[in-house]
Amino acid sequence: MSNTSLKPYNTFAIEQSCRELKVAHTRQQLIHMALACYQQQSPLLVIGGGSNLVLLQDFLGTVIKIETQGIEVLETVEAYHLTVAAGVNWHELVKHTLDVKMPGLENLALIPGTVGAAPIQNIGAYGKEFCDVCEWVEYLDLDSGQLIKLSAEQCQFDYRDSIFKQELDNKAIIISVGIKLEKRWQPVLDYGPLQAFDTAQVEAEQIFDCVCQVRSSKLPDPKELGNAGSFFKNPIVEAAVYHELARQFSSIVGYALDDGRVKLAAGWLIEHAGLKGTRLGAAGIHKKQALVIVNLGGASGEDIAALAKHVILTVEDKFGVRLEIEPRLVANHGVIASIW
Ligand code: EPU
Repeated sequence: MSNTSLKPYNTFAIEQSCRELKVAHTRQQLIHMALACYQQQSPLLVIGGGSNLVLLQDFLGTVIKIETQGIEVLETVEAYHLTVAAGVNWHELVKHTLDVKMPGLENLALIPGTVGAAPIQNIGAYGKEFCDVCEWVEYLDLDSGQLIKLSAEQCQFDYRDSIFKQELDNKAIIISVGIKLEKRWQPVLDYGPLQAFDTAQVEAEQIFDCVCQVRSSKLPDPKELGNAGSFFKNPIVEAAVYHELARQFSSIVGYALDDGRVKLAAGWLIEHAGLKGTRLGAAGIHKKQALVIVNLGGASGEDIAALAKHVILTVEDKFGVRLEIEPRLVANHGVIASIW
């Protein structure tokens, strides 16, 4: 399809177009389409659920939407080893594994997007991250045309980060993902509302229901209010910086990391900079969760970027901490690194 609107393909519901939209239903189609585009040196943007994108301009190239399907399971004495196609919807995978009694993904319920997008930013919520269950990631190397499999360790996972956002940025297309679910299931109940469960009694379905309920109460449903989940990452600061901030702002929220540094709750910083509910054009800071920017109706990517800049500058001015954004920014010729 040529000159296609991308509004239905991004959860922010931003109205921008692309020169051409192609849908890959099979692995072979995906590989063929991606290599053809790359070799013609035509701008290429590969999307899954479109839940982590801010479209700043019309995209003057080809968008490939990945819709490959398939979940294969290899059972060993200790674990279920899943091979999942990149186009599978993440939440459908979580539901499916619970339906067939393979728990382990319940904390990651209701995260929008596809399985192939999960490794890129190492999705995480309620005490668990994708890297905790990842065994390997298979990608198409655009330079060589080869399929390459990286172990979880080689993916260099970190908080909302991986090799796919670093040295393989724009060079790799994730084709399938290997997930390992241990048969000896251990509930992860560290996060707030989950702490009320009894470790010895709790069932994975209860965690799933609780996570779905908490998420739905705080995070807007993109079908009703366009958004890309958390717009900002929780910033990580040195312990001394945290202690000084805590001295001045006693209710500040921070989580100590193993390396001694502290991860600050960006939602707290934004709210306490007085920005919750702020509007700029048709973009707004969500009233129930300040980490989320919402499209209040007809917002452009530029409106969203302008609001994000205002948030970053205001928070920096008040707390001396610089926020970084989470979603990918798309301009005329591809993904760009910064909104500035
Ligand atoms: N907070 C505020 N005001 C706000 C929002 C949060 O004061 O407007 C405070 C809360 O009271 C709480 C703390 O900040 O004490 C943390 O808030 P919350 O538990 O809602 O989590 P978060 O740090 O805001 C992160 C992830 C979410 C994930 C939740 C739950 C990032 C950037 N975000 O949010 O991930 O669902 O934890 O684990 O790490 C996403 O990435 O799209 C996403 C939704």
